This record gives sequence, C-alpha cells and structure tokens, in this order.
Amino acid sequence: MPRAPFIVIEGLDRSGKTTQTSLLRSRLEQSGHHVALLKFPDRTTPIGTLIDSYLRSQSDLDDHAIHLLFSANRWELASRIESNLKSNTIVLCDRYAFSGIAFSAAKGPPPLGYEWCRAPDVGLPCPDVTLFLDITPEKARERGGYGEERYEKEEMQRRVREVFRRLGEETGGGGGSGGTTTRWEVIDAGRDQETVSMEIWRRVENLVANGLEEDVDRLWK
Ligand code: TMP
Repeated sequence: MPRAPFIVIEGLDRSGKTTQTSLLRSRLEQSGHHVALLKFPDRTTPIGTLIDSYLRSQSDLDDHAIHLLFSANRWELASRIESNLKSNTIVLCDRYAFSGIAFSAAKGPPPLGYEWCRAPDVGLPCPDVTLFLDITPEKARERGGYGEERYEKEEMQRRVREVFRRLGEETGGGGGSGGTTTRWEVIDAGRDQETVSMEIWRRVENLVANGLEEDVDRLWK
C-alpha cells in the first residue's frame, strides 16, 4: 500500500506561509485525505516552551544552544511524522529543518557556520516536497512590517533569504551534499493569496493523488 507524502511549507516571515498551510490543509481534507498539521517550532512541548520564551526575548540563550533546541524540537516529533505517513496520513508541516539552518546561519557575529547548523538535523525524515514561499524584503515590508519577535528585522530577513537560496540549490538538486532528494519548489509569494494557493495545489496535486511506494528518505544522509 502506498504511503502518504510529507509536505513542508517554508518561507520568510510575512510570506503568508501560515495562511497557505491552512488553505492547503482544508483543500486536502476536502479531497478526502487525512492530514496531520505540524508547525515548527512546536511551542507546546517542554523544549518548545524554552524556544517560545527565547523568541519573545523573555530569555537569552547562547546561539548554539538555541539552535540545538530548535533541532531537538523536530526530533521530538520525528517518529510521529513517520508513523503518520505509514498509516497514510499526509504530514503537512509549517517550517522545518530548512528554517533551522537559514535563521541560525544568518545570525552573528560571530557566525555559526552553515555545516555546523545543518549537522543536528541530519537523519530527520526528509520531506517529499518543500514549497518555499519567496518574497522580497521590500514586499514583506509593504505587508505591514515585521512584528515583535527576535528575527523580524529586514536585514536579518535578507540574510535568511540568501541561506534559503543556498539550501534550495544544494538540497533540491538531489546532487547536493548527502544526496538528499526533496523536491524544492520556489513559489512567488508576492502575489495575491488565491493565485499562490492555486499554484501550491498545482505543485502537490499529483503527489497527493498517487501517494508513494518508497520509504521516507533521511535528510542529508
Ligand atoms: P514562526 O513565526 O513560524 O512561529 O517561527 C518563529 C521564528 O523562529 C521565525 O522567526 C523562524 C525561527 N526559527 C528558527 O530560528 N529556527 C527553527 O528551527 C525554526 C523552525 C524557526
């Protein structure tokens, strides 16, 4: 029996990621699929509570320490992702390891280093498709500027976008480090909500209709 696909939606802050994740979930459910919606960071776990307090600037942590907590927060849910997929429940995830690397590698000084940032997430379940919602920092600003949280600053978002670009080139090509084969789809998220959601549907339609025979891959392994 085929397994369900693992779909990740990534993007910059203000790219409409959370709205689009929820629209996709509704559409999948209307088409009769079971869907497990996950969001990283998952602020409800004990590790997630520490992350939440850090993001709201209510606590301070060393850059390495918070990076490892974000990754641990994903490992906490890795077995749930796999068991859902095996029981034919689509896993739809709002942010994943790519955010972990992009945001930490964009920090500094001193920089953490791209390879160091990637290491703790090596071996996590690999998404079958990653939809990257791309938006220019200028367009994001037009949408009402950034909020209160730690990373919501234009210069930081610009650097984050660069790291995402690198991740897309290396990971999506299938020939990148570790040979990971997630399908990396860049979607122009500067357009209106309906256009973006139609495009997302177009890019996942076949995958969800057919399911997958092969086992879940591992990130960067
Ligand atoms: P959210 O706004 O989607 O809840 O994400 C919270 C912030 O945390 C966002 O600025 C991106 C950042 N982040 C990381 O720095 N590392 C991670 O591993 C993840 C998942 C998010």
